[in-house]
Amino acid sequence: MKAIAVYPGKPESVHLEDIPKPSLADVADGKGVLVRVLKVGVDATDREINDALYGNSPPGYEYLVLGHESFGVVEEVGPNVRNVKPGDYVTATVRRPGGSIYDQIGTYDMTSEETYYERGINLLHGYLTEYFVDSDEYIVKVPPGLKHLHVLMEPMSCAAKAVHQAYEVQRRMKVWRPRTAYVLGAGQIGLLATLLLKLRGLDVYTLARSQAPTQNSKIVEGMEATYVSTTDTPIERLIAKTGKADLIVDATGSSAMAFSAMQALGHNGVLVWTSITGGKQNVEVPSDQINIDWVLGNKLLLGSVNANREHFESGIKDLALGEVMFPDVISKILTNPVNGLDDYAEMMRLLVEEKTALKVYVNVADE
Ligand code: BGC
Ligand code: ZN
Repeated sequence: MKAIAVYPGKPESVHLEDIPKPSLADVADGKGVLVRVLKVGVDATDREINDALYGNSPPGYEYLVLGHESFGVVEEVGPNVRNVKPGDYVTATVRRPGGSIYDQIGTYDMTSEETYYERGINLLHGYLTEYFVDSDEYIVKVPPGLKHLHVLMEPMSCAAKAVHQAYEVQRRMKVWRPRTAYVLGAGQIGLLATLLLKLRGLDVYTLARSQAPTQNSKIVEGMEATYVSTTDTPIERLIAKTGKADLIVDATGSSAMAFSAMQALGHNGVLVWTSITGGKQNVEVPSDQINIDWVLGNKLLLGSVNANREHFESGIKDLALGEVMFPDVISKILTNPVNGLDDYAEMMRLLVEEKTALKVYVNVADE
């Protein structure tokens, strides 16, 4: 069957690979789920793997099948599978456990080992193909009423983890009543974080460079959050109006922005970094000023990567709630479909060149 793959370490090596169809027998204990792939989303991670910034093929392979944002339909299940049945819409988690205690209790997103195993990213083949098989432990059901949001399940899980972790660490405060949130970046993670924070009742300001109106600014406003173009309104002016933020999520993809966000956080607040910055940029920051401000303000910096099954499940619930609260807004994120695995070159072109391509995804098969 067809698969979109790269040769890790070799820049711009995206190509079509012919791989064997998997079978239920590939998974032990009768726990296998065979999924027919319908759609797969791609993001900056896929672009950076194709740029050879990171990514490794599985042992014994020269290529790595790309794709970590999956959506498909169950075709066949092993005798010991309970949580899904043929015909169900599903997505799949990305990371697979290593050996640490965190891996062993289902929180593989918190592994304490340097090596991590991620389908479509590191050491495991991904979902940009016609079928995949995995243990039911990693297969998450998508309600039929959300099938129009298909490839957003995985990005939503990452946003859900970031917000959930922020609330978890803030238990240190005994009482924490955050009012103002800044979300930096209006890409997929920024927009989904905006949604999650609106659903928690915060005043959310989503900051991006572009001047409104853009498709992104309209999505922010559709979620009843405030879009702030930093071209029109520098962040200092926003702070003068709202006060410093209680919670900031950085999803800009820029380490310079991630550091400068440190100056926008209020006392007792939490700043969450979510961007994977594959480059080698160095920036200068007012370190004395930040240091004293962070110590005197008891501020907290939190990194968040990936997501486990619980975040997929809670993210899916919040997508359902979001659809009820803000009908037909979330689907506007799904901007750029590509027709079929054969069109891998167009998929990469959109990721690299098309600045307005908010979400690129491949229509792998019809239902
Ligand atoms: C994926 C995450 C993954 C991270 C680091 C992101 O693009 O969505 O699942 O953990 O990259 O590889
Ligand atoms: Zn991703």
